[in-house]
Amino acid sequence: MTLSRRQLLVAGAAAAAWPRIALLETKPTQPNILGRLIPESAEAELLGPGKTTTVWAYNGTVPGPALRLKVGQRINTVLENRLARPTTVHWHGMRAPNGMDGVPALTQPPVAPGGTFHYAFEARNPGTFWYHPHFQSAEQLDRGLHGVIVVEDENPPEVDRDLVWMLDDWRLDQQGQIVGDFNDLHDVSHQGRIGNTATLNGRAPVEFALRKGERIRLRLVNVANAWIFALEFKGHTPSIIAYDGHAVVPHTPADGLVVVGPAQRVDIILDATANPGQRFEVIDRYYRNRTFKLLDLVYSDTPLGSAARSPLLGLAQPDLSEPDLNKAERHEIIFSGGAMGGMRSARFRGEMTGIRQLAQQGKVWAVNGVVASRHDEPPIIEMRLGHSYIIDFVNDTAFPHPVHLHGHPMKMLMNADKTPAQPVWRDTLLMAPRTRATVAMVADNPGKWMLHCHIPEHQEAGMMTVVSVT
Ligand code: C2O
Ligand code: CU
Repeated sequence: MTLSRRQLLVAGAAAAAWPRIALLETKPTQPNILGRLIPESAEAELLGPGKTTTVWAYNGTVPGPALRLKVGQRINTVLENRLARPTTVHWHGMRAPNGMDGVPALTQPPVAPGGTFHYAFEARNPGTFWYHPHFQSAEQLDRGLHGVIVVEDENPPEVDRDLVWMLDDWRLDQQGQIVGDFNDLHDVSHQGRIGNTATLNGRAPVEFALRKGERIRLRLVNVANAWIFALEFKGHTPSIIAYDGHAVVPHTPADGLVVVGPAQRVDIILDATANPGQRFEVIDRYYRNRTFKLLDLVYSDTPLGSAARSPLLGLAQPDLSEPDLNKAERHEIIFSGGAMGGMRSARFRGEMTGIRQLAQQGKVWAVNGVVASRHDEPPIIEMRLGHSYIIDFVNDTAFPHPVHLHGHPMKMLMNADKTPAQPVWRDTLLMAPRTRATVAMVADNPGKWMLHCHIPEHQEAGMMTVVSVT
């Protein structure tokens, strides 16, 4: 790819006629129960009106339909596969029963083209979640298959608007079409597939309008394959109220940057305190030598009011099983491989295999020395139902990895040698290169569960495993 993000930025700045970004208001505009979820080829105006990109989309739109429901309500939807490939739907972070988890071979057969599958289960926790395919994910996620799920809080903080920002990136050619070089070995062995165009809710963003005095809840959802966002909201002080759907004590992030790795969600409160007519940039600062302007916050001429805001009250603490650290069984899970990782060989399909032969088959990442070849690998940990576990994750590679466990949120005990000051639960843990992280969990959801890097290029190149709970 030749287009740099900077070139695209310039292109973006020139297109002054583009409308302000479309927002996904999460007011109940969608039925709580979505009857049919239909992945198929569609046209999306990622780059603005009239400029269409051929994508794969749920029910014709990128992002797919936003689901909004209350705790105890059921997702009840029939997947109707109109793609030319098999697919499944995974409900990321939802703690669904195993049979509804959408992992091909492990929890269900893949749904063939023209086939259907009925997903039905109850929402157990409030929070911001999302859905996406789990079959050939590197391509299916990247072509546009994703949607948000909002499970309402019982006592949400009072806000003027409750919005979703789905952050994504695309690798587009000069005609604005998706470049089809999925699982390119360079992407696979380095940081994954990074695009050249960022979108917010399926549109290259220009401006986000707000009014002085507003309090806004933003549910940030990173649906990109590999792009990590670290957002600076110039002139504003965001308060984080939840990670991966689970409440935390409201706090301002370190350096003011809101970091959202692939598949992660961060809910923030943004108080609009500036004056009518003012503009502020939202900048992505994750990648040191390529900071990137996501959009401008633009104050309209009409303030909402000048009354001082009441202090922000946090969400209710998450209702999750508390691990018993004294009785917990401890395991270490080591990720290795990739470019500059130093891995020489690993076990692949039962045989010790040298890195050259592995690379020839596009398999370059390992978990505890094993390169996965399929979703239904033998379990790396056999957990007993109701027991507590401590897992030490070791990222022994030169790249960051968002590590995702299905079916169970993980309580952070230690991250990069710092103990969190307050309980933090995550389903996806962003590990910096050459760091360790320790989590605890209760194996309270029976079945076989994926544990994998959520950069699908890494996952499909071996960076996945299974834990069983019986
Ligand atoms: Cu978001 Cu294994 O998934
Ligand atoms: Cu990875």
